[in-house]
Parts: sequence; structure tokens; C-alpha cells
Amino acid sequence: MNTTHTTRKVQFTETVLRDANQSLIATRLPYSKFADILPTMDKAGYYSVECWGGAVFDVCLRFLDEDPWQRLRNMRKAMPNSKLQMLLRGQNLLGYKHYPDEIVKMFVEKSVENGIDVIRIFDALNDLRNIETATKTAIKCGATVSGTLSFTQSPVHTLEAFAKQAKEMENMGVATVCVKDMAGVMTPQEAYELIGAIKSEIKLPVVLHTHCTTGMAFMTYLKAIEAGVDVIDTSSSCFSGGTSQPATETLNYALKQLGYETGLDDAVLKEVNDFFKPIRDSYIADGTLNPKMMATDTDALNYKVPGGMLSNLVSQLKAQNAMDKFEEVLIETPKVRADLGYPPLVTPMSQMVGVQATNNVLSGERYKNISKEVKAYCRGEYGTSPAPINPEVMKMALGDEKPVEGRYADTLEPVFEKTKKELEGIAKNDEDVLSYILFPQVTEKYFAARKAKEEKVVKYTITPVEE
Ligand code: CO
Repeated sequence: MNTTHTTRKVQFTETVLRDANQSLIATRLPYSKFADILPTMDKAGYYSVECWGGAVFDVCLRFLDEDPWQRLRNMRKAMPNSKLQMLLRGQNLLGYKHYPDEIVKMFVEKSVENGIDVIRIFDALNDLRNIETATKTAIKCGATVSGTLSFTQSPVHTLEAFAKQAKEMENMGVATVCVKDMAGVMTPQEAYELIGAIKSEIKLPVVLHTHCTTGMAFMTYLKAIEAGVDVIDTSSSCFSGGTSQPATETLNYALKQLGYETGLDDAVLKEVNDFFKPIRDSYIADGTLNPKMMATDTDALNYKVPGGMLSNLVSQLKAQNAMDKFEEVLIETPKVRADLGYPPLVTPMSQMVGVQATNNVLSGERYKNISKEVKAYCRGEYGTSPAPINPEVMKMALGDEKPVEGRYADTLEPVFEKTKKELEGIAKNDEDVLSYILFPQVTEKYFAARKAKEEKVVKYTITPVEE
């Protein structure tokens, strides 16, 4: 009998305020709907509460008419004892392109200043040059940095390669290393081997993030825990399962019985879940939450393509009236990925690879049409590919043009002061300017809506005086 684990601690990051609601209801949870439960969540005993970054920022401005910075300050006030965690796409911050170092530094500083404790920083290509500026700045500001590896399967993504990158992150000064399986494709055996390999290479705590999509996540976590993982990502049970994370209460219950210390308060967990249940039900009732999202879908295992990407491919082909080409596109997808040097299939790479595979099949000639994003990727604007790009594809994409030398962000001019001037009289603070730099059109619309709302309020307060 193995009894060595009996007093080991496994801690939990609660994702209901970020990844769980992003995965199930496209982040459509306004602050007003969950504000009342925050003081309770503050007492649960989580390692951290993931509540910001990822799509939260964009969706707040785009769909919820909410200032994401204000949401962060509100959460900070309501949860003084919790570590508030955000997800950051390295040099992309929360947007979809690379920003100059100046903006990366300011954004990280402002995130910490407004209340963030833990920043999980990753790069879609695992090009560590793209997480360096954010990492160094966050450490300087006193934040806990979780250096994050985007998990994927390919001939170049070996245990040794991942362990080596974990070591490089440790040398960079991160506090923890996180393995992020965005697609929920990591098997229990892979988790056991990978966490073991990383644990034997570094001394830092290791975190594992996965999704239930293919149905393996509970087993994957258990094997990862056996291999020594320190923190797992879970969601309050009514927002768990399917494309979301495994359930917090379930894992807490099972792990405690196995002899692990979780630090979680069972009664508080129940209260949190009871609070979110009617909210979940209302999203099912109004159609925002499709019950299918909460079920297991094993297609990602057969096709080796993440679930989210499969549904994108289907809608692309349907739009072009070409569903008969579905199998062909699925066969082409891993070939395109290999040509492009095995990028992990996460945003924005999953979209690029999917569109290119579709183009290759529908046009009847491979790489006849190459998207401007794939050209930018070949130019090196997203970083270095995990393996070299197929030279023939490179030639077709760039012709005689040479790829960028060094790090793409070094070629970008500072934009903050210029933008601040442009927004004089509109932006109320530097945070507003940063929001605008990340999402110009969306933020402009948000500014207009905010102004209209404020004018309404002024009118309302003046009326009684006039009578
Ligand atoms: Co995720």
C-alpha cells in the first residue's frame, strides 16, 4: 500500500468566475449576478480564485457594458482574503496581436495595482521570449507569477522539451509552473508522465489546468496528483463538466477521503454552488447555455483536434455549403499543423490552422490561398514555431520576403502617450487608455454608452431641484 501521500496537500483554483463561465456561457456573467456570493467565496479556502483575464476583459466591454477594471476593483474589495488570479496571453496581453513592451509593462502594473495577486502567463507557441516582459514586470510588482506551458501532443512536444521549458521558467523567477491543457485532450497517463518529468526537473509547485470535454479530466487530475501536482483547477459543480473544468466539490470529497489535505470548507462550497445553481438554470432557460456543452464529447480523441476547433470547422464548412468535405478537412488539419511546425492548437493558432486546412481542401490546391494571419505567422510575428516551418510552405507564404529577425515586439513603436492624447476628454484614467489600445472599436462603443448613461444620471438628479 502506498501511504506516502496521506498528509500531502492538494490545493484548488476555483474557475467559476472565469474559465468555467467562459467555456459554458461565453463569459456572459455580469458582475451584478455574482457580487453577492463573493464574501462567501472569500471563506472557501481556495488556493486562488481565477476571475479576470482570458475573455473577461473583452466581453465586459463588448457585451456587458462593464468596465473590466471596475469589476476587478469590486472583486478585490469583496474578497480581501483571496488570491485573485488572472490569465494573460504573454505579449498578446488579452488581445490577439503582440503589443510593445511599454504596453505589456503598463498593463501588468495596472492589473496588480487594481487587485490581481496571481498572474498565469502563457504563450500560444511556448516561445518563452513572449512571456518574459510580462513575467519580469509582474514579479517586480510583487505578483505571484505562474509560468504556463501550453500543452499539446506532437513529435517535438516531448517530456524532455516540456521539462526543459519548465526549468527555463524557474530560472526566469516564476513562483509556480502551470501545465495548461486548453483542449482537455491530456490523458491520465500523459499527465502522470509529464507532471513527473517536470517535478523531477524543478523545485517549484506545479499546477494543472484541463477541461472535461473528452471525459478524462477527473482521471487526469488523479494521476497528476499521484505524480505530485500541487494545484488543480476546478469549478463549482453546477458550472462544471463538459467544456468546463471538473467539479470542485467532487474532487474535494474524493481527495479528502484518499487522505489529502485540500484546505477547503465543505459547507462554504455547498453555499457557493447553491448560489450559482439558479443562475445556471436561467442560462439554460434563455438558451445561453446549451446543455450539450456540459456533456462529454470524445470526437477530439478520434480526430486529434480540440473540441472548440471541430465546431468551428463545422460552421465554416456549413457556411460554404461544403459539409461533404468534412472528413477531408479533418485529414488535412494535422498536415497543415505539421507544415507550420506543430503549433499548439489554441487561439489564435487553432483558427489559423483550421482556416488554412479548409482553404487547402476547398480550393483543390494546397496553399493556393494563404491567409494574412498565416503569412504573419511565417514572418515570425507570433514568435518561433515549435519545429521549423516546412520550407516549401514558407516560400509560398513569403516569396522572397525574409522573416523578422529577433523578437517581433522589439520592432513595435510605443503607443501609450500618443493614444492618451487622442483620448483627451474621453478616457478618465490610464486604465481606459489601455482598454482602448487592446480593443479600440469595442472600447469606443463602451465609452459612448458610458457617457450616455452618465448624462442620464445627471438629468435624473437635476430634475427634483428644478421643480
Ligand atoms: Co481553460
